[in-house]
Order: sequence, then C-alpha cells, then structure tokens
Amino acid sequence: MSELMDVLEIHHYPQFMDKCCDLINMEWPRSKTIRLRTLKMSCDNFPTCLVLVQSHEVIGHSKITPIPSLPLGCFIESVLIHPKHRGKGLGKFLMAKTEDHAKRRGMKTVYLSTKDKQGFYSKLGYTECEPVQIYGGPVLSRQNVKFVSSNKINTHSNINIPAQSASARASTTYIHNSVTPPPPPPPPNPSNSNTLVTCSASTYMKKYI
Ligand SMILES: CC(C)(COP(=O)(O)OP(=O)(O)OC[C@H]1O[C@@H](n2cnc3c(N)ncnc32)[C@H](O)[C@@H]1OP(=O)(O)O)[C@@H](O)C(=O)NCCC(=O)NCCS
Repeated sequence: MSELMDVLEIHHYPQFMDKCCDLINMEWPRSKTIRLRTLKMSCDNFPTCLVLVQSHEVIGHSKITPIPSLPLGCFIESVLIHPKHRGKGLGKFLMAKTEDHAKRRGMKTVYLSTKDKQGFYSKLGYTECEPVQIYGGPVLSRQNVKFVSSNKINTHSNINIPAQSASARASTTYIHNSVTPPPPPPPPNPSNSNTLVTCSASTYMKKYI
C-alpha cells in the first residue's frame, strides 16, 4: 500500500468534495447538488464523511451516521472503493480506519446494512443482527419490518390503509359518487406475479469495536 495514502475527514479537506461526489455517483448515481449537500453536512460530530486519498485522487469513501436511539452505536454507510482499486485490501483498510474513527468518538458498536456484500463484511468481523433505525425511533425488531420496493407498489400490494373517520368516509363517498368508478384492475400476470411486492434483501450487520 502506498505511503501517500490517507483517510481524511472531508470537511477539513473541501478540495476533495467534487472528486468524492463523482466517485460516489459512479456507483450510485444521484443529483450532484444533493450529493454535494450531503457531503457538506460532514462535521466533527456525526455525520462524518471520510475519503481515502492517494496522490491527490479520491479512491474511496465511507460515511459514519449517528443512531439517535443508540448513543454508543453508529452506522457506517456508502462504503466504496474506486473500481480500478478494488481487490487490493483497500476496502479492508478504509473500514479499519472508519471503525478507528468511530471508536475515537466513543462508539462501542458499529452497524451497517448491505444487499450483497455480506461476505466482505463477515471477513472484517461483522455478524448479522436485527435492523436498526437510523432516523430516530427505537431499534426495530425484524418481525415488525416490512420491506416494500417503492417502484413495485401497485393496487395489489398489501398496504394497510388507516381506518377513516365518519366525516372522511362521507367525503370519500361523495367523491366516489361524483366520478365514474375506475375500471377493475387487470388480473395478475402469473409469470410476473412475484413482482407485485418484493422484499429488499438488506442484511443488517454489526461489530463491537
Ligand atoms: C465492497 C468493496 C468496498 C470492497 O473493497 P475492496 O477493496 O475490493 O476489498 P478488499 O480488497 O479490501 O477485500 C478485503 C477482503 O474481503 C474480501 N472481499 C472483497 N469483496 C468481497 C465480496 N464481495 N464477497 C466476499 N468477500 C469479499 C476480499 O477477498 C478480501 O479477503 P482477504 O482479506 O481474505 O484477502 C468494493 O468492492 C466496492 O466498493 N464495491 C462497490 C460498492 C459497494 O457495494 N459497497 C458496499 C455497500 S454495502
């Protein structure tokens, strides 16, 4: 591994923001404006974005996010190594630095979720765990989590609609009576029926640091 390699907190090195944004967008394309806004939220307290830099090039990124319900736990996300530099131990190096960073900030446990990199994280000592809620609220039990792919929701999905008040029902009835009722939905295509509601296969993992 080159001596010129370093892991830096991006908010102390804003000159790397643009390159970091391009790197992340290569893997997970998104509006550059939104991406930059997220990177600019990096701070000494979490969230913190770390960049792996070699010879002034950004070749890796990770982000540490707080977990409001777990003061001694944090979430690692958007872990990424430039495609040209994969398979050389840099992902492992970046994760070790990211965990060190979290530890220095008093964290005891790090969490993450992944769709298809369980093998990578297992090698680094992560084990599967219950899902954690990173945007406030309690730790969720797996049984209470229903994953629905947002682009696959349609009228056949089993979404619970809350019970309406009498006045809401009345106004709904009025609206329904005033327009032509919609045609019945087409029967499901048997060859495609498993696309109506699908589970996102995210696996949550954790590691004590
Ligand atoms: C996942 C990623 C960060 C790994 O980085 P990397 O630099 O290629 O990984 P490393 O070379 O450090 O690998 C470390 C170890 O994990 C293993 N490994 C790497 N990717 C693996 C995978 N997908 N499955 C199983 N093992 C894997 C390596 O063989 C190596 O094992 P070793 O220590 O026994 O030699 C990189 O592939 C990447 O950026 N992928 C695209 C973005 C992504 O999916 N990020 C994860 C989001 S959850």
